[in-house]
Amino acid sequence: MTPTTVRFDPVTRLKGTLTPPADKSISHRAALLGAMASEPVRVHNYLDAADTNSTLAAMQQLGALVDQQPDHLVIRGTGLREAAPPEGPIDVGNAGTLMRLLPGWLAAQEGRSYVLDGDSSIRGRPVDRIAVPLRLMGVGIEATDERYPPFTVHGGKLNGIDYTLPVASAQVKSCILLAALTASGRTIVREPEPSRDHTERMLLAAGVPVVRADGAVTVENQDELVLDEQIVVPADLSSAAFAIAAGLLVPKSRLLLQNVNTNWTRTGFVRIAQRMGAIIIGDLEEHGAPLTAGEPVGDLDVTAGPLVGTTVESWEVPLAIDELPLVALLGCFAEGETVVRGAAELKVKESDRIQTVVDGLNGLGGQLEATPDGFVVTGTGGLRGGTIHSHGDHRLAMLGAVAGLASREGVEVVGMDAADVSYPGFADDMARLLPGS
Ligand code: S3P
Repeated sequence: MTPTTVRFDPVTRLKGTLTPPADKSISHRAALLGAMASEPVRVHNYLDAADTNSTLAAMQQLGALVDQQPDHLVIRGTGLREAAPPEGPIDVGNAGTLMRLLPGWLAAQEGRSYVLDGDSSIRGRPVDRIAVPLRLMGVGIEATDERYPPFTVHGGKLNGIDYTLPVASAQVKSCILLAALTASGRTIVREPEPSRDHTERMLLAAGVPVVRADGAVTVENQDELVLDEQIVVPADLSSAAFAIAAGLLVPKSRLLLQNVNTNWTRTGFVRIAQRMGAIIIGDLEEHGAPLTAGEPVGDLDVTAGPLVGTTVESWEVPLAIDELPLVALLGCFAEGETVVRGAAELKVKESDRIQTVVDGLNGLGGQLEATPDGFVVTGTGGLRGGTIHSHGDHRLAMLGAVAGLASREGVEVVGMDAADVSYPGFADDMARLLPGS
């Protein structure tokens, strides 16, 4: 298929109110935990995008019933240990979260083996990070070249483990926690740094006694999983972040982003931007009552203004992992140097995001240097513009679009269709914020 090329011309101002699309991480978990549960769950505002549709299709293949009602989904699960036997490989598409979380459930399916595969980007993304702890729990896993999809999970009897993650990863942590529900005894996952905690919150809201203390999460064997009767998915901070960046960089802009998930493990980007001088007003302290599944929701009020460079240290990386490309973009417009360290994980995202971000923004007139674990940006107060390739990476496509709106000469994004993975309608949403629209 020929990639779609879209041009984003510089704009004079962005103004208005926007509710970004539903949270991708929480949608994946609502579908997966819904399929694992013994009672039906109603999911409101499930993300309708390529990644989360891959998850729904996989859950149906595994025996869950997905009933699309006019304003919500009903998911009727099979129970923890009763996923349907395999009917050919499970296609995860482009969804790394599905690929890494689902094996935690499949591992419990005694006597059944499942093959997982996906698109060409997924085939380059490592699964040894989940294979290592799952094997310690007693699961058989065979991966291509020991590391990549397609890979096979052989369900069986699981034992609890005490495992320290080598790198902070919410996906790996979640995979182990899901397997822990059916493993004998107790499982402890220790994190080097906190990462997003939607799985812990959803399990806690479902009454599973998840214990969180001193960087460790402990879960015990459960007979069954019964979720809250209803889950309302808030808007995705990672999608909102593109509008936030546009609102900060296009002069005279003022945006209100509504119903955004303000879970503190997701708002690292907002704190980094504020440190750079950004005016973003909102409750980042989780003062409000959680909307659902333990997740807080709030509005963010964004005003354009001058920025200064900052340094992002390793501990902040998991709290802003998907927004680091946008930190690079803000750095191009800021005064002074912006440094991101301890982010080697960027190399194994939907593209090698150290290389694609540095090359992409340099191609638009930026001054960035790649380092082994991040990048250094020398701010020049703006970007000229030009052409950027998404490399099939949704966040690269939207990065190019925002760069274009704030650039001097405009940006052509080759492969803009990649945005559909998490944010279908992104270009239309931006257009609605233009003066006179
Ligand atoms: C995700 C966790 C992050 C993030 C990904 C979604 C999740 O990955 O980059 O887009 O939903 O748990 P890692 O936890 O592997 O860093």
